[in-house]
Amino acid sequence: MKTNVLYFGDNLEILRNKEYFPDGCIDLIYLDPPFNSKKDYNILFKENGGVESEAQIKAFTDTWHWTQIAENTYHEIVTKGPLKIGKLIGALHDTIGNNDVMAYLVMMTIRLVELHRVLKPTGSLYLHCDPTASHYLKLVLDQIFSPANFRNEIVWRRTTSHGDWKQGAKHFGRVHDHLLFYSKASNPTWNPQFIPFSSEQITQQYYKVDENGRSYRLVTPTAKKPGGDTSYEWRGVRPPKGRYWAYTREKMEEMDKKGLLYYSSTGQPYIRYYLNERPGVAAQSIWTDVPPISPTAKERLGYQTQKPLALLERIIRASSNEGDVVLDPFCGCGTAVVAAQKLNRRWLGIDITHLAINLVKNRLRDSFGIEAEEDGQPKDIGGAKALAQKDRYNFQWWATDKIGARPVSEKKKGADQGIDGIITFQHDRKGTYKRVVVQVKSGHVSVNAVRELRTVAGEEAIGVLITLEPPTEPMKVEAIAAGSYHSELYDKDYPKIQILTIEELLQGKIVDMPPQTQTSVTFAKAPKISKKEGEQPAMGRLKFNMGDRVIGNDRKASFRDRKGTVIGYEPRTHEYLVRFDDGRNEYVNPSWLNRGV
Ligand SMILES: C[S@@+](CC[C@H](N)C(=O)[O-])C[C@H]1O[C@@H](n2cnc3c(N)ncnc32)[C@H](O)[C@@H]1O
Repeated sequence: MKTNVLYFGDNLEILRNKEYFPDGCIDLIYLDPPFNSKKDYNILFKENGGVESEAQIKAFTDTWHWTQIAENTYHEIVTKGPLKIGKLIGALHDTIGNNDVMAYLVMMTIRLVELHRVLKPTGSLYLHCDPTASHYLKLVLDQIFSPANFRNEIVWRRTTSHGDWKQGAKHFGRVHDHLLFYSKASNPTWNPQFIPFSSEQITQQYYKVDENGRSYRLVTPTAKKPGGDTSYEWRGVRPPKGRYWAYTREKMEEMDKKGLLYYSSTGQPYIRYYLNERPGVAAQSIWTDVPPISPTAKERLGYQTQKPLALLERIIRASSNEGDVVLDPFCGCGTAVVAAQKLNRRWLGIDITHLAINLVKNRLRDSFGIEAEEDGQPKDIGGAKALAQKDRYNFQWWATDKIGARPVSEKKKGADQGIDGIITFQHDRKGTYKRVVVQVKSGHVSVNAVRELRTVAGEEAIGVLITLEPPTEPMKVEAIAAGSYHSELYDKDYPKIQILTIEELLQGKIVDMPPQTQTSVTFAKAPKISKKEGEQPAMGRLKFNMGDRVIGNDRKASFRDRKGTVIGYEPRTHEYLVRFDDGRNEYVNPSWLNRGV
């Protein structure tokens, strides 16, 4: 089995490929499926078809609706799945009905069955979810893994507080996610994790100091329950009434010889626990010490559902060893993959969007300098055509990535006009930036496509048309007629409108443009992993400060009149990371922003 591979595609199809995933090949699975329940808990339980739910559901990911696929999957589970799982899903379906939660449960169940198959007997699975569906998922997981293999429901406080009450919310702040932790069998890989003592714990418990100045606390060597020879006399005393020695005589001798035993005035022994020898407090099932990724953390890439590395590191350290294989079948921007690489584990990541796979690829390159192997991307013209037919947006992301363009997130779904990708480069010595704008056409093209691009690229430096079909003669003539762009930095002309076919991209052809001084994608560049996570950017004397409200002033469509808040600064490109009020994070050149709105 290959490891350290990023798979592009639906995880169900990929997991079912036994060449990729034979039985019992994975040590640890972490999955964080998309489920945008934070929007409105009730909406998800409404029957599809209601006017309100139709409108609001559009805001959610397309993945979990009661579609024909959900219906088919439901029948597959009930008729062909393991009996008890089929029964459970049938009963839930009778009760809940055809809504988004049921679609989510059905689609998750079929994948969880497969994930259970690929786990080793010593393996574990952590399912990251939230209270919207966690209790339904626990029913499903209990059937697949058996209740005996349920280890924990971990509560992760993902945010510090919510001010919903100000908007009239009548509930306590919803601040946590759930992680349902199961093992495949009774003896999973397990490494206890420890949290450093708080200063309060140190001052309250470790206040005694020995003759060498070492802080320690005293702990009784007795226990409530007997076990073996535990009531013996030790240096003239027995354990207090109702208690038993927790250690054998030999162990007591050993501790005494090392000077670890302290005797009270009545002769009762106590063990000295030295602060500098204690690993900390064993981690419990409520995690409040893993903060969310701060808006200015270097770790933040701008991927909406990105989880903190520290969260994944704890899970990976606890439930795997070096060299083990960690799988994230919904890998997003690759936090689990990056944490696994950092901790010397092997890894496998799957995501259904090219955007995510590309992001993980860049993240691994930026953090560790490694080129990840990819699978599932088109490798020839046939593959590219198949992708274009199956999913236009993934085709666009794939094609723009081929020429190093960042996909433009403001593109409206369904609209044919507009820009699909952007490459930013330095135009002159003053540090002015210009852009290459990219349009991708997966269908039939004519000279109109070039004319349209000439309009869209009007004020930009260069316009690029990527087509599946070869360009016609009139298209080439129209492109040449557009003239050229002159780079002041390199004192050189470049064709203003360029047409690249997918065939040419597959052969490695790139845009004819000035060399790039930056390689940024839509998302922030990941820091080298040796750097301290969560550092604040050095702000110095900059045009904007963190938290400043700004409005886009560029005459181009992309940022014009959009309002947002500055949340970061990229010193390499002198761009600001702005969280626009529409929820998108984008890097923006300061000259395209005005302060104060
Ligand atoms: C909540 S995000 C994961 C975020 C991730 N934990 C991180 O820290 O970046 C869920 C991801 O699952 C992907 N996804 C959704 N359905 C999928 C499927 N059927 N197969 C593979 N990936 C899928 C989405 O594209 C999205 O990137």
